[in-house]
Amino acid sequence: MSTELVIKDLHISVEGTPIIKNLNLTVRQGEIHALMGPNGSGKSTLANALMGHPLYEIDSGEVTFDGVDVLELESNERAKLGLFLAFQYPTAVPGVSMANFLRMAVSAVRSGNSNGSETKLIPMREFRRELRTKMKQLGVDESFARRYLNDGFSGGEKKRAEVLQLAMLEPKIAILDETDSGLDIDAVRIVGESVNQLIGPNLGVLIITHYPRLLNYIRPEFVHIMLDGRIVESGGWELAQLLEEKGYGPIREKYGISEEVLANEGDQDPLFSLRR
Ligand SMILES: Nc1ncnc2c1ncn2[C@@H]1O[C@H](COP(=O)(O)OP(=O)(O)OP(=O)(O)O)[C@@H](O)[C@H]1O
Ligand SMILES: [Mg+2]
Repeated sequence: MSTELVIKDLHISVEGTPIIKNLNLTVRQGEIHALMGPNGSGKSTLANALMGHPLYEIDSGEVTFDGVDVLELESNERAKLGLFLAFQYPTAVPGVSMANFLRMAVSAVRSGNSNGSETKLIPMREFRRELRTKMKQLGVDESFARRYLNDGFSGGEKKRAEVLQLAMLEPKIAILDETDSGLDIDAVRIVGESVNQLIGPNLGVLIITHYPRLLNYIRPEFVHIMLDGRIVESGGWELAQLLEEKGYGPIREKYGISEEVLANEGDQDPLFSLRR
């Protein structure tokens, strides 16, 4: 049976402000979903909350991974179940080489052991062989392995490092938050093709992106549009194409959140009345 990540009636807030409102989404192993939506609509909030970021409070709703209540688990336990998140803004970890980080992460995830200190490391020789093969497969330069994790990496290099993590960790469901942001046109192709190589019946992907360009390489079967913390439209590839042509205007209008409303909202607010 294929693994499924099921999100039901999810409400999430950040520092007391509700951001995600009544979100429903199911991603199965082997399926490719794209999540699109204007800036600030809550896409990263959803991704961060799914990985257990402490700042994001789950007010109500449920998230299950093969029936297991994900919200009760620590982040590393979620990773062990087979959930992976590539961050929109990966953090640098000076002092920890990419190779060492990957060896620890892969060992922890594969051992099924949630306590890092007791994790038995994969033998060096075996690990190195696997890392080399995957780096080659993804066209990642070998010097990457010796560098500190994300430290001084260019935007594009960080994104490639994440795809390498994805390849090494072999999750069942991966959430990729703007894996294409800041990439030049060639890098979008390389990242797109690399992710595409990893896609198959064992991997389900939720790709958060603003640009259909990445989706030319990783063609989603399902496209969802998020607006103001809700998924307001779900469809196929044609939805992404429609956005590219018309932008979010028609969708905002349809769901009653027009730019005009946003502009009028501030009328009574002293901060906004300064405009006059
Ligand atoms: N850590 C935080 N502290 C304060 N506000 C936050 C935090 N995280 C998210 N928010 C707020 O939640 C809303 C949704 O943000 P989020 O990052 O989820 O949007 P997004 O859809 O990923 O946007 P983008 O396309 O720009 O990446 C925004 O108004 C944002 O300011
Ligand atoms: Mg975001």
